[in-house]
Amino acid sequence: MSSTLDFEIVPATNPRTDDERAALMADPGFGRIFTDHMVTIKYADGKGWYDAQLQPYGPISLDPATSALHYGQEIFEGLKVYRHPDGELGLFRPEENARRFNRSAARLAMPQLPEELFLESIKVLVEHDQKWVPSAPETSLYLRPFMFSTDPYLGVRPALEYLYVLIASPVGAYFPRGVQPVSVWLSTDYTRAAPGGTGEAKCAGNYAASLVAQAQAAAQGCDQVVWLDAIEHKYIEEMGGMNLYFILDGTTLVTPELNGSLLPGVTRDSILQLAGELGLNTEVRRISTDEWRETAANGRMSEAFACGTAAVITPVGTVKGTDGEFQVADGGPGEVTMKLRGALLDLQHGRTEDTHGWITRL
Ligand code: COI
Repeated sequence: MSSTLDFEIVPATNPRTDDERAALMADPGFGRIFTDHMVTIKYADGKGWYDAQLQPYGPISLDPATSALHYGQEIFEGLKVYRHPDGELGLFRPEENARRFNRSAARLAMPQLPEELFLESIKVLVEHDQKWVPSAPETSLYLRPFMFSTDPYLGVRPALEYLYVLIASPVGAYFPRGVQPVSVWLSTDYTRAAPGGTGEAKCAGNYAASLVAQAQAAAQGCDQVVWLDAIEHKYIEEMGGMNLYFILDGTTLVTPELNGSLLPGVTRDSILQLAGELGLNTEVRRISTDEWRETAANGRMSEAFACGTAAVITPVGTVKGTDGEFQVADGGPGEVTMKLRGALLDLQHGRTEDTHGWITRL
């Protein structure tokens, strides 16, 4: 299988004007504005990847029997392009997204997309839509690569044909209240993932299955749901679509271990490395809701936060469950959380030296 392809370039005939784009980007929110172009690449069993195109952003026509619409063979990624202070553009650890995309593909019995092709698709799209990369503080161009099965066939089996698509969206904060702490609901009625399931894959089904629990959290007056393990409903796994961190004694960072049912976040991994460099101890282990409640009550737990590409680092203030409610410290953004957040954002936005080799300049 060839790992690179020549892209056919079909530019938008009616791209937004500078004024239209500026108006849209003045207050981008999250995931509601899209750039002028998208990338599509087709796959067929026996033929491999073919027909790579940059084309105008727009609707995709699908046969009603398209298998992804029935059996959910769909995976995706999320990564961001940042405008650096010198005006240049940088991606943050895109190889990690390319690798995770292929791990998700393997779990969903979908074909592997060569990492070079994943990266090339990003380069092609950003080259044509670079004016859409915002420069205001805390903004970026969010990239959403995804792949789904396209066979018009109702038999249940791994499909023989797929479409890879890359779209891009200028974004600000994921949570409307920005860095203000979120409140969470400890879900015991629902689980996100079980051993042997698809928890560590970034697939649409995981998110679809989460929505009823998110609605329950909202009905309880909480911003987000926190998932517990599927067996004992005791150990903390994730928050919504994000990984979680806890700070004990102001110096020790604890995050749930990757056990197959958690998403191995790129931001999670980056924080783990940055924390060590900032002189914090790190512990990757199981952490229970009892430990959360007890350490919050005796003052050992000084901070908690969620992290992900979209949400960056977002503090968790109030925790509610069937046993009642408690607060982490004073419920506000903590010092260590904000220090880590600053270090991560400085790196991503090119404000500090990239000593890790994490930035790919475009
Ligand atoms: C991301 O953080 O990029 C995600 O894919 C999570 C999603 C909830 C937006």
